[in-house]
Amino acid sequence: MENFIYYNPTKLVFGRGQLENLDNLMPEGVKRVLITYGGGSVKRNGIFANVQKKLNDLGYEVLEFGGIEPNPRLSTVNKGAQFCKDNEIDFLLAVGGGSVIDCTKTIAAASKYDGDAWDLVTKKVQPEDALPLGTVLTLAATGSEMNAGAVITNWETNEKYGWGSPHLYPQFSILNPVHTYSVPMDQTVYGIVDMMSHIFEQYFHQPTNSPVQDRMCEGVLRTIIETAPKLINNLDSYEYRETIMYAGTIALNGMLQMGYRGDWASHNIEHAVSAVYDIPHAGGLAIIFPNWMKHNLDVQPERFKQMATRVFGVNPEGKTDREVGLEGIERLSQFWTALGAPSRLADYDIDDSKLDLMVDRAMKNGPFGNFNKLQDNDVKQILTMSL
Ligand code: NZQ
Ligand code: ZN
Repeated sequence: MENFIYYNPTKLVFGRGQLENLDNLMPEGVKRVLITYGGGSVKRNGIFANVQKKLNDLGYEVLEFGGIEPNPRLSTVNKGAQFCKDNEIDFLLAVGGGSVIDCTKTIAAASKYDGDAWDLVTKKVQPEDALPLGTVLTLAATGSEMNAGAVITNWETNEKYGWGSPHLYPQFSILNPVHTYSVPMDQTVYGIVDMMSHIFEQYFHQPTNSPVQDRMCEGVLRTIIETAPKLINNLDSYEYRETIMYAGTIALNGMLQMGYRGDWASHNIEHAVSAVYDIPHAGGLAIIFPNWMKHNLDVQPERFKQMATRVFGVNPEGKTDREVGLEGIERLSQFWTALGAPSRLADYDIDDSKLDLMVDRAMKNGPFGNFNKLQDNDVKQILTMSL
């Protein structure tokens, strides 16, 4: 393993009725709280009203900032930051999925910065401070509720990048599986694909001694694979929603990635696709990740064999590592397609007309990927396989 320091300050507050704990969770001295949210799902399902009432009852002055889009945009971040400055906000409470949380994290830092938030997202400037924030998660997918990352789209320039800072950790995140009951089928499936992808991004790393991490990754993946089909046939099951919600957080709160660096190339490619076509993040991953795997199968066939046998139960007898690995990749594709995820960019009406633009966006910071460094021709091949 590489040397590492693990620190995660987010207080995770999990289970039914945990909104009741808000008074213990809010930091001292806060007066004005801004509730941030997305396109209105939290107004329709009543979660916003519950959070607002709770904050009002506790004596906070409560303001709201809605309209955060899926794949949240820079323009919204800058608007939110200005709102915080104008209204002397001293705490942000994000109520929503990954997009609302990511936008809120970036607003938190941009509120303490005088320039354009894009300077932060592009890492031109490191934030020195940020407003404190908490989250009430309504969609199990990104893990943003317990990590220090955020992904923002600049729609004017068709760029989408992830960035992070220790200032972005939520102080607390409230995870009540009941809050995810209203997540529709397609977003439920996207969430499952996203969390599995996060685990695969970490699982495919250069060989180091990581048997504990490997088994943890495989265990969480197997659990998701067992639970997901039951959940999509029973979207109101507390038990299945609970398992998937917990899995989503564990998948990207740093627990699985101690002592090595994950690959993260598929995410980089997907962000380039979303930057140009504004498709759901995990819809893109369901298409790209299996093709990234096929493209990189020969880098370490034994790693793919391990995934195939341990995660998908592929029988290796009489087959080469490569054949077993390929069978595992096919099983993964079939699993995602059976859940209802897309498998080709054509499913989103994406053809090769903007292929070079997507390659250009993915290559913005040079060759990437820690399992195998991808050059522009690799990215082009993976995207072409995905059409
Ligand atoms: O906007 P509203 O009306 O709230 O509706 C949302 C949105 O349309 C809806 N939704 C959320 N909770 C709901 C609900 N609908 C009904 N009932 C509920 N309880 O779901 C739709 C999608 O929401 P969104 O927040 O966009 O989804 P997700 O959580 O998948 O977040 C995706 C974003 O996160 C980024 C992605 O790139 C994308 O921009 N990522 C962030 C990461 C991080 N910070 O660590 C890592 C990820 O890899 C990812 O890149
Ligand atoms: Zn993701």
